[in-house]
Amino acid sequence: MKFFVDTADVAEIRALAELGMVDGVTTNPSLIAKSGRKMAEVIAEICDITPGPVSAEVTATDYETMLAEGQFLRGIASNVAVKVPLTEAGLRVCKALSSEGTPVNVTLCFSPVQALLAAKAGAAYISPFVGRLDDLAQDGMQLIADIVQIYRNYPHLTTEVLVASVRHPLHMAQAAKLGAHVATLPPAVIRQLIKHPLTDRGLDAFLADWKKTGQSIL
Ligand code: G3P
Repeated sequence: MKFFVDTADVAEIRALAELGMVDGVTTNPSLIAKSGRKMAEVIAEICDITPGPVSAEVTATDYETMLAEGQFLRGIASNVAVKVPLTEAGLRVCKALSSEGTPVNVTLCFSPVQALLAAKAGAAYISPFVGRLDDLAQDGMQLIADIVQIYRNYPHLTTEVLVASVRHPLHMAQAAKLGAHVATLPPAVIRQLIKHPLTDRGLDAFLADWKKTGQSIL
């Protein structure tokens, strides 16, 4: 399973890359705003850190401007994936950019049929938002199960399921059990995945016993 990091914070991306946890990066307009940096500059810097796909999202809503923005973003680096919203114009841009070899991440997906449309439009990734469905008391992970099942029914569809709006370790465990191709995780959630209280307790006990021996390895 691929881990993408859902942030525009380059220091966090560098630190997580050293752990081997960065197969790619996703950003969105809110994350770029949070970084306080110029979009083109921060995307270029992220693309230098990881060879994996770096999603950069368009902000126009009409086809022509969205396409121009996508082509501009694609020009920043060879590993940019253009992110478009799941709207009629977004699907049209997805079709146009995918046809010329640009990987497209279709975002803001909230239904299985939306995911089917994105795959037919040639999307490299579909981004269903599980946390935002959970927020509305709907089962976000059921959406992942439905999309994975639909895509498996039609093996010619090559779109990867990129689980987004991941809020906690349980989302991650469930997404992996369902066989989602990718999850994009905020850095804090990746760090939560590392932690287990029994690991900490066990390590404390080992170190206390080791101290009693008076030995040192080096
Ligand atoms: O990748 C999309 C993600 O950033 C949305 O997450 O927590 O804002 O719903 P959230």
